[in-house]
Amino acid sequence: AGVFTYDPGFTSTAACDSTITYIDGDKGELLHRGYPIDQLAAKSHYLEVCYLLLYGELPSAAELEHFESTITRHTMIHEQMHNFFRGFRRDAHPMATMVGVVGAMSAFYHDSTDISDPRQREIASHRLIAKMPTIAAMAYKYSIGQPFVYPRNDLDYAANFLHMCFAVPAEEYVVDPILARAMDRIFTLHADHEQNASTSTVRLASSSGANPFACIAAGIACLWGPAHGGANQACLEMLKEIGTPDRIPEYIARAKDKNDPFRLMGFGHRVYKNFDPRATVMKQSADEVLDLLGVENNPILATAKELEQAALADPYFAEKKLFPNVDFYSGIILEAMGFPTSMFTPIFALSRTVGWISQWKEQLADPQMKIGRPRQLYQGETMRDYVDIENR
Ligand code: CMC
Repeated sequence: AGVFTYDPGFTSTAACDSTITYIDGDKGELLHRGYPIDQLAAKSHYLEVCYLLLYGELPSAAELEHFESTITRHTMIHEQMHNFFRGFRRDAHPMATMVGVVGAMSAFYHDSTDISDPRQREIASHRLIAKMPTIAAMAYKYSIGQPFVYPRNDLDYAANFLHMCFAVPAEEYVVDPILARAMDRIFTLHADHEQNASTSTVRLASSSGANPFACIAAGIACLWGPAHGGANQACLEMLKEIGTPDRIPEYIARAKDKNDPFRLMGFGHRVYKNFDPRATVMKQSADEVLDLLGVENNPILATAKELEQAALADPYFAEKKLFPNVDFYSGIILEAMGFPTSMFTPIFALSRTVGWISQWKEQLADPQMKIGRPRQLYQGETMRDYVDIENR
C-alpha cells in the first residue's frame, strides 16, 4: 500500500520548483522575479509585468515595444467564434461563457495546440494574453444584450478593455485615463500569485500534456469558486446585503458564530497572515477612483469602510489574523466603474492568465516535470463479495 503524508489542502506540500513569484505571508511580501509588487504597481504597467513574468527580466524599451505590438496584433478573435458565443443562453454568467470559449480556442487555433514546438507555445501564450480581454468583454456584452465591440489597437491594454466593455455603436466613448490606470492596476495586482488553487489546477492539467487552451479553461473553472476568484463578487454581494452600516454588528456576529457557515467575504488569506501587500495598493487605487467618480456617499462604500474598521478592531479577526484582502478593494473599484458583480471574476481571470501561462511555460521546461498524481489515505470498506440485487 505505501505510506503517504496526509496534507489536505496542500498546506505544507511544495509541488514544484519555481522562479516566478515569491510570497512571504508573515512579512506581507510579494515579489515577481524579485521585484516587489508595490514598486511594480507604482512604476510599471500590466504588459510590462506580463513580459517580466513570462521571460524573467524587465524588457528593454525595444523589447517592450515589440511585445506590445505582438500582443496588439492578436487582440481580435476568429470571427467564427462570434457564433460560438451566440450558442450560450442570453443570461449566462460571463464566467460560464469564458470557460467554454477559452476551452474552444483549441478548436479554432489548432496550430498552437502543439506544445512540443517552442514557437507554438510562444504563440499560444501571446494569443491567450491578447484575446482574454476581448473574450471577457464579449461575454459581458452578450450577457447584457449589447453588440460586441471590436478591440481598438490604438488604445493600451486596459483602456481597450474598458472600451470593449462600455462603448456602444450609437455614441462615442472616451476612456478616462484615471479609470484606465486603475483598471491596469487591478490587472497588475492579480497577474500572478504562485501556487494558488487555479494555478495548481493549470499545472495539474498541463502535466498530462493537455493543450494550453484546455489548461487555461481548467484554471478559469477553478478560479470561479467563491473561496478563490469568486470572492470579489461574493464580497460586493455581501456588502449590498448588509446595505447600511448599522447592520454591520449583526454580520460580524454571524462571521464569528461557529454554527453559522457565513464568512466575511474579502477577509482572510491562506498565505498572508498579517496584511496583503496588494490590498494596500488597491486601497489607494479605490480612493482615487472614488474621488474621481464622486461617490463618497455611496452606501456600499460607507458600509465597506465601516466593516473594514469594525473587523480590524475585533479581537476574533485579530487573533485569527484575518485582514481585508485584495478582493475587498478591487470589488469596490469595479462597482464604482460600473461593472456588474458578475464581471468581477472574469476580470480576475483575464488578469491571472499571464500567471497561469508563465507557470505553464515554466513547468513544460522543467526536466523534473511528472504527471501530477496525488495519493490518498483510503478510509472505505475492505474487500467484500458482490451481492446479487435480489439479496440486498
Ligand atoms: N470570516 C470569518 N471567519 C473566517 C474567515 C472569514 N472570512 N476566514 C477564515 N475564518 C476563520 C475560520 O472559520 C477558521 O476558524 P477556526 O480556526 O476557529 O476553525 C480560521 O479563521 C482559519 O480559517 P481557514 O478556513 O482554516 O483558513 P484558510 O487559510 O483555509 O482559508 C480563505 C483562507 C481565504 C479561504 C478564508 O479566509 C475565507 O474563506 N475567506 C473569505 C473568502 C475570501 O475572501 N477569499 C479570497 C481570498 S484572496 C483571493 C484569492 O486568493 O482568490
